[in-house]
Amino acid sequence: MSSERVLSGMRPTGLLHLGHYHGVLKNWLELQKEHECFFFVADWHVFTTHYADNVNLEDNVNDMVVDWLAAGLNPNLVTIFVQSKVPEHAKLHLLLSMITPLSWLERVPSYKDQQEKLKGKDLSTYGFLGYPLLQSADILLYKAGLVPVGEDQVAHVELTREIARRFNFIYGRGVDFEEKAEIAISKMGKKQSKLYNTYRKAFQEQGDDEAIAKATALLNSQQNITLSDKERLIGYLEGGGKIILPEPNSLLTKASKMPGLDGEKMSKSYDNTISLRDSSEAVEQKIKKMPTDPARIKLTDSGDPQICPVFQLHQVYSDGKRITWIEQGCSNATIGCLECKKPLIDSINNELSVMQDRAKEYQENPKLVQQIIFDGSKKAREIAKDTMDEISEVMGLNY
Ligand code: TRP
Ligand code: SF4
Repeated sequence: MSSERVLSGMRPTGLLHLGHYHGVLKNWLELQKEHECFFFVADWHVFTTHYADNVNLEDNVNDMVVDWLAAGLNPNLVTIFVQSKVPEHAKLHLLLSMITPLSWLERVPSYKDQQEKLKGKDLSTYGFLGYPLLQSADILLYKAGLVPVGEDQVAHVELTREIARRFNFIYGRGVDFEEKAEIAISKMGKKQSKLYNTYRKAFQEQGDDEAIAKATALLNSQQNITLSDKERLIGYLEGGGKIILPEPNSLLTKASKMPGLDGEKMSKSYDNTISLRDSSEAVEQKIKKMPTDPARIKLTDSGDPQICPVFQLHQVYSDGKRITWIEQGCSNATIGCLECKKPLIDSINNELSVMQDRAKEYQENPKLVQQIIFDGSKKAREIAKDTMDEISEVMGLNY
C-alpha cells in the first residue's frame, strides 16, 4: 500500500456510460488496489453551473454510486462519500477564499472556456468563479497526495498547490515559528543539528535542491523529534512555514478518447453513448444502427476501416488478431458490416453483463447503497475534522 492518499470526485450526472468506464473508472479500479482512496460525489459542484436547473440530485447521486460499485469499486477498500455530507468542505472553502487572490481564479482556463461554452447560462456568479477553489478545499481537506483527473482539471490541481503554498506561508509560521524550529533542531543532537544547518544554508544561499533531499532524509531518520517538529523543520529548510497543507500532484489519466456511436468522443451531450445499464438488446440495436464507411453499400464494395466509427470501437474491444481480420476483410470486401459488428456487440455485452450483475444487488436493495454512502461520509468527516482542527489552530480559531 503506497503512502500517498488518492482523492477524486465526479459530479453526479446520473447514469454513467462506457466513456466514464474506460476514461475514469478503470483507472480508479487500478488505484484502489495500491492506494488509500477517497472517491466522492461532488454534489455541491453541480450548483456552480446548474444552479437553476431543477434536477433530481438525489437520484443522480444514487445512480452514480451504484454505477461506481457496478464497475467494481470495492467499498471495503475505498471510501465512497458525498460532498454535502461533509460540511467541512464548505468551511474550508470559506476560509481559503479569504486568502485567494481574485486574479488566481480569473486566470483558471475553465473560467472563461466554460462561460463561452455555456452561453445560455449566466455564469458570472460568485460560486462559478470560486468553483476551482471549492475543488482545492475538496483535495486539501484530505491532504491528498495524488488526484487522478483528466486534462481539463490539471489547472485546478495546480491552483490547489498554489493555495496550499500560500496557506502554509501565511499560517505555517506562527509567532514563534523560528524559535520552535531552533528548539527542534537542538533536539536532534549536536552532529545531526550541524548537518541540518549545513543543508539549510546550502539551500537558502545556493538554492541547492539536493541539500533539501538530504535534509529531508535526515529528518525522516530522526527518532527524537515529533512529527509536528519534523514538518516544522521541513518548512524551515526552505524558509517557508510549517507544512500544514501538503501540495497534491495530479495523476493525469491517459487521454482515453472513448469513441461514441458516431465516432465523436462519447458524451451525453452528443447523444452517442452506451449506458452501463443498457440491455443487451439496446446495445445490439445501437451498434447495428451505427454508421459505417458510406462507400460500402453492397457487400462487394470495399471499405476503409480508418474512416469507420465501428472500427474505432473495435480498437477498444478487439485484440490484434481481430483487428487484422477487419482490416483485411473490410478492404477486400470479404466481410460485411453486420458480420464486423457482431463480435463488437458481444464484447460490449460481456463487459456490461459483469457490471449489471453486480449492480443488481444494489438496485434491489437501495438501503445497501445508502449505508455505503453513510459509512464513507462518516469516515471522511473524521479526517476532515482533524484537518479543520489543525487549520483552526494555526488560524487562531480554536477557541
Ligand atoms: N471538478 C471535477 C470535474 O468537474 C470534479 C471534482 C470536484 C473533483 N472536486 C474534485 C475532481 C476534487 C478531483 C478532485 O470533473
Ligand atoms: Fe466499418 Fe467494419 Fe463495415 Fe469496415 S466492415 S465499414 S470497419 S463496419
